[in-house]
Amino acid sequence: QLDPLPPITPEFVDVLNKVCEQCYTDFAPDELEVGVREHILQDLETFVRRQFTGAQLQLFGSSKNGFGFRQSDLDICMVLEGQETIDDVDCINIIESLARLLKKHPGLKNILPITTAKVPIVKFYHVRTGLEGDISLYNTLALHNTHLLASYAAIDRRVKILCYVMKVFAKMCDIGDASRGSLSSYAYTLMVLFFLQQRNPPVIPVLQEIYDGKKKPEVLVDGWNVYFFDDLKALPSRWPQYRKNTETVGELWLGLLRFYTEDFDFREHVVCIRQHGRLTTFNKQWTSKYIVIEDPFDLNHNLGAGLSRKMTNFIMKAFINGRTVFGTPIKAFPPMYPSQMEYF
Ligand code: CTP
Ligand code: MG
Repeated sequence: QLDPLPPITPEFVDVLNKVCEQCYTDFAPDELEVGVREHILQDLETFVRRQFTGAQLQLFGSSKNGFGFRQSDLDICMVLEGQETIDDVDCINIIESLARLLKKHPGLKNILPITTAKVPIVKFYHVRTGLEGDISLYNTLALHNTHLLASYAAIDRRVKILCYVMKVFAKMCDIGDASRGSLSSYAYTLMVLFFLQQRNPPVIPVLQEIYDGKKKPEVLVDGWNVYFFDDLKALPSRWPQYRKNTETVGELWLGLLRFYTEDFDFREHVVCIRQHGRLTTFNKQWTSKYIVIEDPFDLNHNLGAGLSRKMTNFIMKAFINGRTVFGTPIKAFPPMYPSQMEYF
């Protein structure tokens, strides 16, 4: 039921490349803004230590994974020195007393503990910068997946650009807010990485499948294996397909939209970045959902689990429209209005 796409001209590929590059230059934070985030983190850590001696705060998510926007939230993970893990009851108690403490911080507003979520957090608003943030406890797997995403971002500039384009696309289509029933930025990033691994020739390897010897090393965190190959300097000699793919970002972006609308069979297959071989929804017993995205470490976690049927259709329609919009040659895209830019 998809419209056939006209042949793509070299001129139009140029337009697509420009649009993609523009997403990146317009929305990526500069060094100053990265420094501001570190500064807020330091200040918060000092403040929190007044009550929680030995508290250590760490940034994760898009402040660290290479796909941050100027206005992205601050995702912060707190651990207590000398304590390995935390049980659910303690976690909720600490979140509540952390919220009471943060209410006394003069630079913060809108302190809100959320203890019913899968990962309990305290939300806050940083007045001087206008940044939102949240603090979670012992969110160790998230620190590891942040490092994994950062490693993929460092392999090839096109990875970074495409993940930005995808996030902008998701925001513009209103399909990128997990708290409102759609998918998280993290889920869309996994979709981009999966596409780039499945491309022929692939743009990025499967880092979790590169290792010495016969058996994959085991690095257990919360019961899951978080091993992946992170010696990126050695990647060219370890991965025969390194730099074999020479497509431009514009071609890859349209390729991605076509992949998820024409090739990828959502009913049968799982978006899975930890192995190159196809994983089926049947294998995972995840057949009741249409969009199935497996977390690379927490293999019980389907990022698409919270999608309603209606939202699933809405997301698929956004991809189908995207395919038509980005796949139909025009001379140039109209410039964005400042009001649209402010949205990000
Ligand atoms: N995360 C996760 N599992 C989820 C959602 C999020 O492990 N279901 C972790 C990921 O490490 C993710 C981080 O929490 O990067 C922060 O999530 P979020 O703020 O939603 O995404 P970001 O990647 O930070 O993107 P954004 O710029 O939109 O904040
Ligand atoms: Mg974030």
